[in-house]
Amino acid sequence: EQAGKGEYDHFMLKEINEQPTSLAQAIEGRIDPVNGRIALSDFEPGTFDDVDSVQFVACGTSYHAALYGSLALNQAGVHSTALLANEYSVSAPPVDENTLVIAVTQSGETADTLSALKQAAAEGARTLTVTNVVGSTAARAADDTLFIRAGPEIGVAATKTFSSQAVMLTLLGQRIADDVQGEPPADLETLLPELESMPSTIDQLLEYSNAASIAEQYSESRSYFFIGRGLGFPVALEGALKFKEITYEHAEGFASGELKHGPLALVTPETPVFAIFTGQEDEKTLKNAEEAQTRGAPVVAVCPDGHPAVEVADEHLTIPDTDSDLAGLVANVQLQLVSYYAADLLGRPIDKPRNLAKSVTVE
Ligand code: AGP
Repeated sequence: EQAGKGEYDHFMLKEINEQPTSLAQAIEGRIDPVNGRIALSDFEPGTFDDVDSVQFVACGTSYHAALYGSLALNQAGVHSTALLANEYSVSAPPVDENTLVIAVTQSGETADTLSALKQAAAEGARTLTVTNVVGSTAARAADDTLFIRAGPEIGVAATKTFSSQAVMLTLLGQRIADDVQGEPPADLETLLPELESMPSTIDQLLEYSNAASIAEQYSESRSYFFIGRGLGFPVALEGALKFKEITYEHAEGFASGELKHGPLALVTPETPVFAIFTGQEDEKTLKNAEEAQTRGAPVVAVCPDGHPAVEVADEHLTIPDTDSDLAGLVANVQLQLVSYYAADLLGRPIDKPRNLAKSVTVE
């Protein structure tokens, strides 16, 4: 097992550091536009012409990636929603042959996600699986598949697969919007070069990350909050899930604007607030962070250098400047590192947290 970890103490840290490579694998040959239209040659031209709405189904970290993909698709003008697969049997919106149901699952074996996929197909929806595992049950069960090519992920905490899911769902969303609307989404020209640079953007971040010192600084806290807006919201949820999963400390993720609708009651000097800025209404998120700061909470801004939040926040986790469609997934890498170092300081069994399995094959 030690051999598999190479120079790292844990698979999780190895997998975080593999992200430049796994992202390069994910996008290889998939980005170049053909005649100004998105290639994503996994799918024939016009594959999604008849789609009128999209439902994503997934659990855990994959659900957060699905929410990321769904918000991006809505922003590209296609009606879309992300649903917890384990709630699908009791709350699925109606489907028909023009509904595309996309199962997002790293392992392709999550029982809840397989059930939702099966139900959607039985009710007449088209199905597509986005997975890391070729030959998995979910890959075989859907009409179409898109492989994220992240390579094996051993740590129970999903890291590199989240980033690859988010990148591939961003690209897939643009392709669906292109097919549905008959023309490429408006921001495609600026997005594609940034997508292509993702491996080097993450590489850069890994070089200078100060996540270890932030983790140490706040290691005695009582609870950890993560806030974000738009594409920062799924990242806030994911930041909190990762943190609780491997540190066993209490952490919650909120939409920035929700803080004042209840969670603010929990805020004290012992509850650091990690505020994620993705370039979508950042001034509102900054105001929300300041509301927590006024109540004594230390604020850690996750944003590029020179961002207005840097002046206000107590600490700063810096991220390279990128397209607002991608800033959230870049910010998430800093949060993965914070969770890792916090768990390491606490001496937790990082790769195999108590009570959890890599793949949950029961409903
Ligand atoms: C992530 O860190 C978790 N271990 C967990 O939430 C996981 O993402 C979830 O069980 C879904 O797994 P899947 O992607 O294999 O379907």
